[in-house]
Formats: sequence, C-alpha cells, structure tokens
Amino acid sequence: MEPINYPINIGVFISGNGSNLQAIIDNIENKTCHARIQFVLSNKADAFGLERARLAKIPTHIVDHKKFPVREDFDSELVRITKDYKIDLICLAGFMRVLTPVFLNEFDGRVLNIHPSLLPKFKGLHTHKRALEADETEHGCSVHIVTAELDDGPIITQRRVPVLPDDTEGTLNDRVLAVEQIAYTEAINIMAQRISGV
Ligand code: GRF
Repeated sequence: MEPINYPINIGVFISGNGSNLQAIIDNIENKTCHARIQFVLSNKADAFGLERARLAKIPTHIVDHKKFPVREDFDSELVRITKDYKIDLICLAGFMRVLTPVFLNEFDGRVLNIHPSLLPKFKGLHTHKRALEADETEHGCSVHIVTAELDDGPIITQRRVPVLPDDTEGTLNDRVLAVEQIAYTEAINIMAQRISGV
C-alpha cells in the first residue's frame, strides 16, 4: 500500500457501548488509523461511547431521535451538526438509526457503516442468532458505504471468523466484535487513500 499523505477528518455516530469507537480512537493514537475524529454523535444520552469520547477529549453531541417525530427532521439536525465541522467521512459505529436521503444525499458516498455479518448475508438485526440457525461455518463483519437501501451499499472490507460447534450468540458476538475493531480501521484507511487521492 502507498503511504497516506494526511489524516482524514471523520465524525463517528454511535448509539451504545462504543467499542468500535474506542478501537478507532486507540488506532489513531498508535498511528495505524489515518484519521482525526472531529466529533462523536449519539442518539442516546446514556451511550457509554460518549464517555469514551469525552475521555479522549473529542467533542460530543446528543440528538435524541425521540424528539423528532419525523425521521427527516432528525436527519436534518444531523446534517446541521455535521456541517459545522470539516468532515471527509462519517463512520456509523453501532448507530441504530436508519438514515434517510436527507442525510445521505448531503454526504453521498462518504458514510460508512459496520454490520456484523458477511453481507449480503444476514442484513438487518440478530445476525449472530440467524447465522447459528442457518448452520453457517463462517461468519464475520462487513464495512460498507451507506446507501438508502438497508445494509446494501458497496463493501469496503470484510473480516471472517469461524463458527464453532458449541458457539452461542454471545461467543459468536465476541469473536465478530474483535474483528470489527480491526475492519473499521482498515476501511477508514482505504477511504483515506481514496479521498486523499494517493
Ligand atoms: C457492533 O456489533 C456493530 O456491528 C453493531 O452494533 C455493535 C456496536 O458495538 N451494529 P459497539 O457499540 O461499537 O461496541
């Protein structure tokens, strides 16, 4: 791979624990992720990921989706906040809201999501349970560009893990989450190269 000229500016959207966010923060710190996090946004005030952001001295925003009965109005607020920063890429990291074209058209091709399955398999929720029920021998995660179609945009990278005979949803979740944290940095670096044109 060619060296990357400069870090890209990213915004990270979360809803919960933020272990993927933490991995990005750590990889920026150890210089393996070529990005700078400009802000973290959560739709939940109690998301633990917000604590992680504050500890790393990253600006945070809370936008409670319940205060926006119309989905597009929630998205307009996200656009307004994002435009206050100079952002090259938005990273959805466990962000449990579906974005509409109101947001996506503003940042066309510049929004990534991580999904806990080997897309196009198991779009939507409960992916580990469904992989076990389908007797998959292999499972994993995908980082893809977000389009208006749920879990459907172009895949940037995937990581695979085995499904073991005595796996539960919990053990499989842990194994996939561990590779998610590698995959997201890999995807950000691929996008950084595309965006910086090297
Ligand atoms: C991850 O499994 C992600 O793929 C899914 O939600 C989880 C988020 O985990 N969409 P975390 O908040 O990054 O710890």
